Amino acid sequence: MSTIYRKSPVPRYHQLKEILRERIRSGEWQPGDLIPSERELSETYHISRMTARQALTDLVNEGIFYREQGRGTFVTRHKITQQLMRLTGFTEDISARGQQPSTKVLSAEMRPADDLTATRLRIEPGTPVFSLQRLRLADAEPLAIESSQLHFKGCERLLQENLEEQSLYHVIEAKYGFPLMEAEQELEAGLAGEEEAKLLAIPAGSAVLFTRRTTYTERNEPIEYAKSIYCGAKYTFYAHLRRDQLFA
Ligand code: GLP
Repeated sequence: MSTIYRKSPVPRYHQLKEILRERIRSGEWQPGDLIPSERELSETYHISRMTARQALTDLVNEGIFYREQGRGTFVTRHKITQQLMRLTGFTEDISARGQQPSTKVLSAEMRPADDLTATRLRIEPGTPVFSLQRLRLADAEPLAIESSQLHFKGCERLLQENLEEQSLYHVIEAKYGFPLMEAEQELEAGLAGEEEAKLLAIPAGSAVLFTRRTTYTERNEPIEYAKSIYCGAKYTFYAHLRRDQLFA
């Protein structure tokens, strides 16, 4: 079991959060498991109850844990949290939840950019882009359908990648050397159509969440325009908001 370092510059509640996350990642705690109370955590890790509470509250707000009145704090079932402030990919989001991400490539081809894609990627309509449709799963359960259009010099090389076994963001960053820095993302509520529902293994007409994301490299060049559909009941988008200090 990890320890909390008293002399570390990292705040104790933050260290505790990482320890708790690791206990999920390692599989020690499974979705639905009751986790130790504030008092137990403060005794185990020799910290104050306030510190334990702060770590638990943060993880509840991030959707990792949930509280039940009078029963305690539990590891969230199914709900996958996507951070709205940090730029992360699907593989990272699912792994952070201690689940096993996987991918089924539905199609991968070079295709001329349509008008919207061209605007988002700041290229001429008709420019060939790498177009990728993927079904994304967590612990073998379908969670999202992602449709990504990518454009960069030599993007046709992506045709040769095995994108069932590798994270797209990892390939772009580690193999092609484009650090991903920022993204703009829109969210919209909707209902699953017949085709989508079949792929996601949910009844047609179920609530889904549509996202549209433009991802930028460190040179502020758009590299990906992606449209995704997430099962509404299985996904939480988490944003940490801070009020401007108007009177500071
Ligand atoms: C998210 C985004 C997609 C992006 C994907 C990358 O889910 N909505 O735009 O393509 O992550 O995920 P991975 O690196 O696992 O392929």
